[in-house]
Amino acid sequence: MPRILITGCSSGFGQAIAAQFLDQGWEVIATMRNPSAEGLPQSDRLQVLPLDVTDPESIAAAIAAAGQIDALVNNAGVGMLNVLEGADIGRARELFETNVLGAMAMARAVMPDMRARRSGVIVNVSSSVTLRPLPALSIYSASKAALNAFTESFALEAAEFGVRARLVLPGSAPSTSFGRNAVARMGMDVPEAYGAFVQAYFQSHMSATEKTQASDVAQVVWRAVTDETAPMKLPAGADAETWFREAGFATA
Ligand SMILES: NC(=O)c1ccc[n+]([C@@H]2O[C@H](COP(=O)([O-])OP(=O)(O)OC[C@H]3O[C@@H](n4cnc5c(N)ncnc54)[C@H](OP(=O)(O)O)[C@@H]3O)[C@@H](O)[C@H]2O)c1
Repeated sequence: MPRILITGCSSGFGQAIAAQFLDQGWEVIATMRNPSAEGLPQSDRLQVLPLDVTDPESIAAAIAAAGQIDALVNNAGVGMLNVLEGADIGRARELFETNVLGAMAMARAVMPDMRARRSGVIVNVSSSVTLRPLPALSIYSASKAALNAFTESFALEAAEFGVRARLVLPGSAPSTSFGRNAVARMGMDVPEAYGAFVQAYFQSHMSATEKTQASDVAQVVWRAVTDETAPMKLPAGADAETWFREAGFATA
C-alpha cells in the first residue's frame, strides 16, 4: 500500500488532502505541530505524528517514525496579510522559515530514501498569488515565488533519480482558517495611511465569486501525486484556473 506524508494536517487543505488519500486506500501519515486526529477520518491506515517543519529535530524524529514514504506533500504554511510598511520583518523571517526553508528541509529529509529506491513524488503547495500579484500580500507572495523557483530547479535534480517534484497553486479559500491564522500569528497592524486602500481591496477580493474549496486542492494534489504526466504547475480551484490561463499557462 503506498504511503504519503502530509505536513500541516491540523486544519484546512492538509485535512482534505489526508481524507482524499485515505479514501483512495493509501496509508496516510498526517503530521502537525500539536498532534490530534480531530477533523481527520477514522482509519487504521491513518498515522498522526508530531512535526514542526522549522525544527530539524522534529523533522528527523517524524521521518524516523514514518518509515517508507512514497509521497511527501509540503502543505504547512503561514500567511501574512499586510502592506510592507505594516509588516514586521522578524515575522517575515518566521514566515520564510516555514513556507520556504521548511519545505526544503522536508524534501532533503525524504530524498535519500526516494533516491535510493528511484521512486517518489514531492508536491509543494504554493499559491495562485504567484500568478497574479495582489496587494497586502507581498511577503507571503515572495515566499511562495521562492517555493516555486526552488521546486522547479530541485525537480531537475530529483528527476535524475526517478523522483518527481510538482507544484500545486490553490486559489483563495476563505473556508480554511488560513486568513484568521495569518492575522492571529503575524498581526495586521495596517498603517493608517493605507487603511482605506486595504479595506477596499479586501472587500472587493472577498466579493469575487470564484473561490477555491479544500476539496479542489485535495483532488489536484491527488493528480500531482498519481499522474506521472501531470505538468510542473497545477492550479487548484476555479479562481486559480482563471488566473492560470490569464498568466498564459494552458490548463491540461
Ligand atoms: N487558504 C488559502 O486561501 C490558500 C491559498 C493558496 C495557498 N494556500 C496554502 O495552502 C497551505 C495550507 O493552507 P490552509 O488554507 O489549509 O491554512 P491553515 O488552515 O491555516 O493550515 C495551515 C497548516 O500549516 C500548519 N503549520 C504552520 N506552521 C507550521 C510549522 N512550522 N510546522 C508544521 N506545520 C505548520 C498549521 O498548523 P498549526 O495548527 O500547528 O499552526 C496548519 O495545519 C499553506 O501552505 C498555504 O500557504 C492557502
